[in-house]
Amino acid sequence: MIIIMVIFTVIAALILFGVYNRQEPKPVARFMCFSDPSFCHLIIEGKAIPGFGTNQIEPVSARALENKRLQASFGIDNAFTSDHEPYVKRFKSKAKKRMQAVDWDELSIFVQEQIRARLERSATRGNPGEGVRLSSLVQVISLLVVLVVLLQQKKESLMRMNRRLVRLAEEVTSAWISSKQDATCVKLEDNPGLINALEDVFPDINREDHLHNPLNFILPGFETLWRVVLRAIIEIRYRDNNVEWQNVAMKFASTPTSAQFLLKDEGSNISAKFLAHESLRLYPPTRRVHRAYKFAGYPDHFSLAADIEACHISTAIWGADAEAFRPERWATVTSEQQKAYFPFGSGVFTCPAQSVFGPRVIMLLVGSFITELQHWNMVAQDSEVMEALRLGKRLKNERQSLDDLYIHKSIE
Ligand code: HEM
Repeated sequence: MIIIMVIFTVIAALILFGVYNRQEPKPVARFMCFSDPSFCHLIIEGKAIPGFGTNQIEPVSARALENKRLQASFGIDNAFTSDHEPYVKRFKSKAKKRMQAVDWDELSIFVQEQIRARLERSATRGNPGEGVRLSSLVQVISLLVVLVVLLQQKKESLMRMNRRLVRLAEEVTSAWISSKQDATCVKLEDNPGLINALEDVFPDINREDHLHNPLNFILPGFETLWRVVLRAIIEIRYRDNNVEWQNVAMKFASTPTSAQFLLKDEGSNISAKFLAHESLRLYPPTRRVHRAYKFAGYPDHFSLAADIEACHISTAIWGADAEAFRPERWATVTSEQQKAYFPFGSGVFTCPAQSVFGPRVIMLLVGSFITELQHWNMVAQDSEVMEALRLGKRLKNERQSLDDLYIHKSIE
């Protein structure tokens, strides 16, 4: 099946690029999205594509060119936007060092305290009928983790700035969404909302200094974490109320060690690691990775995309239940499935959070939320979401698709 798909993709691509007829190239699509795992790995590394030829653009530049809008919207200069390889390497190793320095026990206590404090505050001060918007709560807690771990901010000072953090999370999310749309992409200097929110949390910031922009570290962590954590909470806590999975997540959050991460529950045979993998498989926060390509003989640049999400939910690879949350599948993954699973990218560009920090911090957050949400029910104003949950369908993976979910304290 896979061989047929590869042959089909190569033939389609050869035709699109007019390589059968070099004297008279046909108009070609400037943007192409690939869902075959082998092609996706090549694209992410900016390598030669069979039938297309080599890329004349250096891999770091191929990535930077595709992230120009991100650079403008946030005024950032990081591994995703720079075409200076030594800087990219330094940035990556700095990120890795900060992730390795995490004190997991301290982080777990801090996260649970922060979730509890916000839930208590909303239960006493807010309008009880209104409930708490789940996506906002997950965003602000994920932002706190990123600020503590990656920007090494003091917990005590962050605890005093609840409203400011909520605003920063909202501004970053909305700037991210607009950066993805041609018509609405606004530059940082023209976005007073984001600038003010940033200056409220980082009063000493120099907005001209892109190298020291805190968003350099905030974006890669925050924009990935909250989305997968939100969906994992819904799958594990609210879909079928699977108590065994919930216990696995809660135990890891209270004892966040390597051994506990791998430990399989006696009844279900599920570990926190399986839950993390399944959450990242079904809901990869980076859905597609884009690269600029320039092929010999063609004047234009092409934008090629590796469709990570399509590889993760392909029924040809994962079976008929590919779109279902089934952590037990990780007990017997095939080599084909391993190759089709790359939520943290591939090859030289693999994310520094892949091996330890990413999967564990996801489960620390998920387990902490599940612990604190024991007496909270979830209600969606959007009936489509409740319908998806009831019918066992996959949740939507777009950024704003779950904005409509509210949690309410159950009456004891
Ligand atoms: C759930 C969590 C995360 C996911 C799913 C994720 C995903 C990814 C993906 C798909 C890439 C490849 C991008 C590309 O090739 O263009 C990547 C690269 C990268 N990520 Fe993450 N990431 C996560 C967390 C983080 C965190 C917390 C940091 C901390 C700053 C981080 C820093 C980076 C960096 C620096 C790179 C570039 C690596 C390089 O240039 O070689 N990521 N990430």
